[in-house]
Amino acid sequence: EQIAVAVGNMLIEQVNEKPDSVLGFATGASPVPTYNYLVKCFNEGKVSFKNITTFNLDEYCDLPVEDKNSYYTFMHEQLFNSLDIKEENVHFLDGNAEDTEKECARYDAEINNAGGIDVQLLGIGNNAHIGFNEPAESFTVGSFKVKLTDSTIEANKIYFDEGAMPHYALTMGIEQIMRAKKIVLIATGPKKAEAIKNM
Ligand code: PGA
Repeated sequence: EQIAVAVGNMLIEQVNEKPDSVLGFATGASPVPTYNYLVKCFNEGKVSFKNITTFNLDEYCDLPVEDKNSYYTFMHEQLFNSLDIKEENVHFLDGNAEDTEKECARYDAEINNAGGIDVQLLGIGNNAHIGFNEPAESFTVGSFKVKLTDSTIEANKIYFDEGAMPHYALTMGIEQIMRAKKIVLIATGPKKAEAIKNM
């Protein structure tokens, strides 16, 4: 709860100072208290999100956007539907695009055209993945299609019916994430301790 208030207030300050801020959002359980806090503050009239632009970190492949587990649906249910944000300013990678390379290039260009990301919110996986960048020998650059590791599938399959979890996703790359002007990574609980130590 304290993290939600601290991160939420930082985002509100950012948006109040620069109403057309570009925010990078993350899914997973970690940012949910922060999103609830943002909705509460919005309802209390402390902030308006009507001029912000958002980019989400990642999206599953081969999962319809209307599926309850798509990150598109998650973000709308957890945050966007409760704010005054304009739908045309909300951006996601399209995990169902036929040409994923072209889709990733489109997404990277949109982030650049928006002037880059002012604040990027991140979680971290138990195996230290960031977005869907799995631990690897070298850092990735722009958005790309990734085959998820067993560890990630194990952690996220609880949300899906048996065997229904996608094994591929599109994600922003590490270099692209690191270009954000400010990054806030939320990690709570003992399960994340080793990932943070190794990060
Ligand atoms: P979590 O996921 O917030 O649900 O722990 C984080 C992640 O997988 O990046």
